[in-house]
Amino acid sequence: MRASELLRTKAINADHVAHGSGLRRILGPLDLTLLGIGAVIGAGIFVLTGVAAATKAGPAIVLSYVVAGFACAFAAMAYAELAAAIGGCGSAYGYTYAGMGELIAWVIGWDLILEYSVAVSAVAIGWSGYANTALEAVGLGLPPELLRGPLEGGLVNLPAFVIVLVLGLLLAVGVRESARVNAAMVFIKLLAITVFVVIASSHVEPANWTPFMPFGWGGMMGGAALVIFAYLGFDAVSTAAEEARNPQRDLPIGILASLAVCTLLYILVAGLLTGVAHYSTLNVSDPVAEVILRLGYPWGAGLVAAGAIAGLTTVMLAMYYGLTRVFLAIARDGLLPPLFARIDRRTQTPLTVILATGFAMAFIAGFTPIGAVAKLVNLGTLAAFFLVSVGVLVLRRRHPDLPRPFRIPFSPLFPLLGAFFCLILAVSLPWQTWAAFGVWLAIGLVIYFVYSRHHSALAVNPESLGNDSLRSQAS
Ligand code: ALA
Repeated sequence: MRASELLRTKAINADHVAHGSGLRRILGPLDLTLLGIGAVIGAGIFVLTGVAAATKAGPAIVLSYVVAGFACAFAAMAYAELAAAIGGCGSAYGYTYAGMGELIAWVIGWDLILEYSVAVSAVAIGWSGYANTALEAVGLGLPPELLRGPLEGGLVNLPAFVIVLVLGLLLAVGVRESARVNAAMVFIKLLAITVFVVIASSHVEPANWTPFMPFGWGGMMGGAALVIFAYLGFDAVSTAAEEARNPQRDLPIGILASLAVCTLLYILVAGLLTGVAHYSTLNVSDPVAEVILRLGYPWGAGLVAAGAIAGLTTVMLAMYYGLTRVFLAIARDGLLPPLFARIDRRTQTPLTVILATGFAMAFIAGFTPIGAVAKLVNLGTLAAFFLVSVGVLVLRRRHPDLPRPFRIPFSPLFPLLGAFFCLILAVSLPWQTWAAFGVWLAIGLVIYFVYSRHHSALAVNPESLGNDSLRSQAS
């Protein structure tokens, strides 16, 4: 085995050139922004804000959201630059393949599979809890053995199992249909947040904001490391590169606009939540709904709960979508079996991948306590953010003339800050999370050396090597 094999890079825009017609280009800037908002607003704001305010930051949780938002903004700009310049539905995997070589690309692709599949399965379990509460409200609550898997003393987490398969069917039907359902759900959650903001703003008691930092600066930063989860997901927009009508223009819009909207809403909600209720009373499972209930608006609390369910649903939908597109990109390059690269002619979706990953995730959500390793999502995402930030610098050096419809400003400072923030937040995660991540990567390396290296399209067809050639942009 030669080092050059591990470092071989793919031609930039190879995906556009070779596979331009496989998927359907129908998503516009609004669809992409809604996809981003769909992926981002979920359990983080509706649940974590209360825990983080009560146990970490106090009213300074609003600053935690500002800090975490800043960290994500650098990464989002890096994604915007590479998504517009390189494209391809493989996102960070594809950018790394073009800039840093096959082995690192495989590692990050394998990491994205972990991030997205754990996110979908773990959020499905949270969704199950909310859905059952809603069912109980109408007298249809499920028995406990149908709400947890066999390792936790039950039979199966039925709602978690079912919701993953339902979303799989939706994705299989088509990207247009999925985008429509996503837009409707995003509307519900935005309505819920708006209702909260309107009600809460007339009940603020400024005394609740003092002391502002009961746990000091350290607490505020600890809060930021926790609520970073609330921002994760905007990267899924970049996996829509081959289904966007005008990717060079619209991917940066989708990524940056969705992050901007979410940041603004998060700061508002965090400020109001701690202004309406004392931070010490917020360590509950549904703080946003509960505060509205305490203020005497049961209909508002119901709407917020519906918003939370809609939020968790779109997070799963967008992450599941991202997973299938990354899988597709890796399989097309030969690093996973070609079976996964098939696109159904009628639906123009990667049907095999959707079904295979759907059954796997439904099984994990229904039968394992995957929620216990949910922090893997943070680590997996931070690893991708780190490599994308570094990737901007590598590609600027290796391909300075590549047309870049969007450029991250103040390079190399901003990409370096992006990479630095990711490192700081990643090292604050518990060692158990790192250990589980290490095991996953080790499995990935075995697969790479046993299978992927030999089946790589670059091994089979070395002409497609991209080290020296810079292909022209194909839209
Ligand atoms: N940002 C997503 C959420 O908060 C993962 O649920």
